[in-house]
Amino acid sequence: MNITIHSGNWEELQVDALAIPLIAGAAPDAALDARLGGLLSELIESGEWNGKAGDCTLIHRVPDTAVKRLFLLGLGEAPMPRHWFAAAGQAVRQAAKAQCRSVALLLPDEAPVRLIAEGVGYGSHRPSGYQEQKEWPVTEVILVAAGEQSTVDHAAITADGINLARELVEMPANDLGPEEFAMRAAQEGALAGLEVEVLDENALAEMGAGAILAVGQGSARPPRLVRLSWVPGNPESSGDHLFLVGKGITFDTGGLSLKPANSMEKMKYDMGGAATMLGAITAIGRLKPSLRITCLLVMAENMPSGTATRPGDIITAMNGKTIEVINTDAEGRLVLADALTYATRLGATHIINAATLTGAVSVALGNIRVALLGNDKALSDAIATQGRDCGERFWPLPMDPEYLEPMKGDMSDLRNASSNRKAGTITAGKFLEQFVDGTPWAHLDIAGTAWIDKTQPHCGKGASGIAVRTLVHLAENWARD
Ligand code: BES
Ligand code: MN
Ligand code: ZN
Repeated sequence: MNITIHSGNWEELQVDALAIPLIAGAAPDAALDARLGGLLSELIESGEWNGKAGDCTLIHRVPDTAVKRLFLLGLGEAPMPRHWFAAAGQAVRQAAKAQCRSVALLLPDEAPVRLIAEGVGYGSHRPSGYQEQKEWPVTEVILVAAGEQSTVDHAAITADGINLARELVEMPANDLGPEEFAMRAAQEGALAGLEVEVLDENALAEMGAGAILAVGQGSARPPRLVRLSWVPGNPESSGDHLFLVGKGITFDTGGLSLKPANSMEKMKYDMGGAATMLGAITAIGRLKPSLRITCLLVMAENMPSGTATRPGDIITAMNGKTIEVINTDAEGRLVLADALTYATRLGATHIINAATLTGAVSVALGNIRVALLGNDKALSDAIATQGRDCGERFWPLPMDPEYLEPMKGDMSDLRNASSNRKAGTITAGKFLEQFVDGTPWAHLDIAGTAWIDKTQPHCGKGASGIAVRTLVHLAENWARD
């Protein structure tokens, strides 16, 4: 799909559809309203159209043009970044549904072009491969607005990163095991101009990655660790080196601490953290920020078998700490433990990890906000700020030292699960903190937000791609933070 910007009049365009985002309670653009024969003001005055965020009114034909459909998209009263983003995604999905090939978005002066173009790209995602594909008719989206084409191009690159993450999260685990995921990550990394390294199970054993191996050993499909590095030509003078670490459990059965059958199929999404980081780093490779960034993706399949780790087994992580595996279903923190240690060894000055880590995060925050934990207020604040500016929502959770108590071992340095369910998201975060060696670090628990259970105007059921945009924007704006 082609996204372009047009700073002239929309009447110069030949398009199948027009989409007009409208702020609730605001008067419509007078010239446009007049051109449409007073249609906008009439709809508003009649009360038929109230402009609520997510609302869409469809009108057939615009007089004296070839336009087949006109969509009015509600932004709500005081649109925030996420409303602009969603309205743009909705415009594309509506146009596709109406079999329109080309759509022009008529944008007011205050419209944030970058976010809108990201929303357009986001709205063009379709679940791939496994069902007969209906034709996706939208090939051309034109933003009628003042702005630069380069802004739109940056947005399209970002959207491609998000949609890569979504595609991978939606893939079933029979087609995406650790090795397939690692190969795809390496391929996408190379295409994005990144330095690529794939560590197999032998390399992991040599490195002493006992925690990753313990999680992977129940599966016939061995684990992988992928490193993708963006090395800028004009590096930041600060010498900062940001690491993006992702949990890539390609399927989480729970292991011998087996999960119930109910909804277990959703656990193909347990590589969502790694997919997020892959989406971000491939966009970063193309956007070429001056910050040095390395992405570490740890892939494993958590299966029960005769070779699986047992509850009660004591394993040794890469940093030498011993861990009693109380619950084999608390596997994400184990694979991340070694990946975080590796990040510190490779010279990380800042680390962000993303993971579908705990069911508890859905209890705390539902599917609305990503939990944000860490040991460095400046880094957490920077993430929350970038999120706010691009329309992704985070919420900090506390990290008092007492939350580590339930994770201290009786027979070992640490245990991987607490004996009760209290503060499950935080105790998992405290566990991870033991492996960053004091490096400024933030942990995003996306277990509640990485999957959308109910179709929304701007996206269908499936992977949300949450946090990719925040991370890309953070990388681009790093120097200015
Ligand atoms: N991948 C899951 C997190 C998860 C659970 C996401 C349920 C969505 C729904 C993670 O590996 C896990 O199983 N966590 C356990 C930890 C517990 C055993 C300490 C959990 O949250 O139940
Ligand atoms: Mn688990
Ligand atoms: Zn898991």
